[in-house]
Amino acid sequence: MPWRDELLFQHAQRKNDSQWRQRVTIESPQGTRLVVDGRTYLNFCSNDYLGLANHPHVANASVAAIKTRGTSSGASHLVCGHSDEHHLLEMEIAKFVGAEKAVVFSTGYMANLAIPQTLLGRGDLILQDRLNHASLIDAGRYCEAKMKRYPHLDQNALEKLLTESQARRTLVETDGVFSMDGDIAPVHALREQCKNHEAVLLVDDAHGFGVLGKSGAGTLSANNVAVSGNVLMMGTLGKAAGSFGAFIAGDEVYIESLVQFARTYIYTTALPPSVIAATRTAIELIQTESDRRKHLHRNIKQFRERIQGHAELGKRILNSTTPIQPLVFGSSLAAFKASQLLWEQGIWVSAIRPPTVPKGGARLRITLTADHDSEDIQQLVDVLNSDPMKRIIAESNQKKLEATEPDREVNP
Ligand SMILES: Cc1ncc(COP(=O)(O)O)c(C=O)c1O
Repeated sequence: MPWRDELLFQHAQRKNDSQWRQRVTIESPQGTRLVVDGRTYLNFCSNDYLGLANHPHVANASVAAIKTRGTSSGASHLVCGHSDEHHLLEMEIAKFVGAEKAVVFSTGYMANLAIPQTLLGRGDLILQDRLNHASLIDAGRYCEAKMKRYPHLDQNALEKLLTESQARRTLVETDGVFSMDGDIAPVHALREQCKNHEAVLLVDDAHGFGVLGKSGAGTLSANNVAVSGNVLMMGTLGKAAGSFGAFIAGDEVYIESLVQFARTYIYTTALPPSVIAATRTAIELIQTESDRRKHLHRNIKQFRERIQGHAELGKRILNSTTPIQPLVFGSSLAAFKASQLLWEQGIWVSAIRPPTVPKGGARLRITLTADHDSEDIQQLVDVLNSDPMKRIIAESNQKKLEATEPDREVNP
């Protein structure tokens, strides 16, 4: 088939499967209200969990840095793009998460790619949770080590793989908070398991950093697991920190190896100083303004109590104590229709469909933030509990759901 026809065929197939994705263009800053085509929508799909993406202090820090440092870093870190802002941010992050050292990457995707490419080679092994983020899965694919995935949160399966392994070095990778399910990895037990097998544990805490732990240092801190020894932490800065970029923290020997050898660190332009200045202010706010985190957790509790007050919704909400609250519909069409219905009512919740989630696991991925209030949450619950939504749920009930434990290949 000619190249173009093949692409058009793939497009038609995706549309036919109710999986065609469209980018919606927003005309406002991030926040609980987003403007699209002049209409305001109540936003329940952003990862700006603490409402820092449009915080005046964070924005002012960025503007001030542009005035003094200009708009670009001008080069990669190892040439002349590594500024004092970068240096200070790395030190502040290391102190915050309790690690010897941290290194800042341009994106979480690049940070995740860096770890196996740099720290592992032929004859080594990566073991990872089946529901890990796409960037971890891609990292496993694009390196010389072998990769195996264990069923979601199944420590017995992991133990078997660790015991059977003949690999020279083993890296175990897990999301801290799973991005599409909202549940939390048992990081304490994983750390012990890895220790027993002389493996290194990498926790991708994109959705835990800023949100979990007393001061917001993330899933590891919340579970009293130090970012040291055989534990590495990856955190992203474009979610709860309301900025952009990512970091890897851990013992100096690992971090220095990344600086020396990570291709996704070395062969790319450093983030602009203004982005770093914004991140530094955001990280200070994460630590000093704990009320944001407290309010976020009150919102999560309130949302769950209200959803669980409605039998059919209560059955469909996954068991999550984090801002990610997935409501599973099963079929892609049902999830899409549910998202459309909310949209018509002025509420934005994305439908997440395969291949981002397993076949038969299409869902509304509802995310709560510290800036939502009780009325916002009630508005959402009212539409979820409305008659038209009940009809969508009833329709999806009639279709036999496919298996929910997936063999997911990609999870963007
Ligand atoms: C769990 C997880 N890891 C990594 C990433 C990638 O981070 P970034 O957006 O900074 O590339 C994301 C989302 O974007 C994520 O949800």
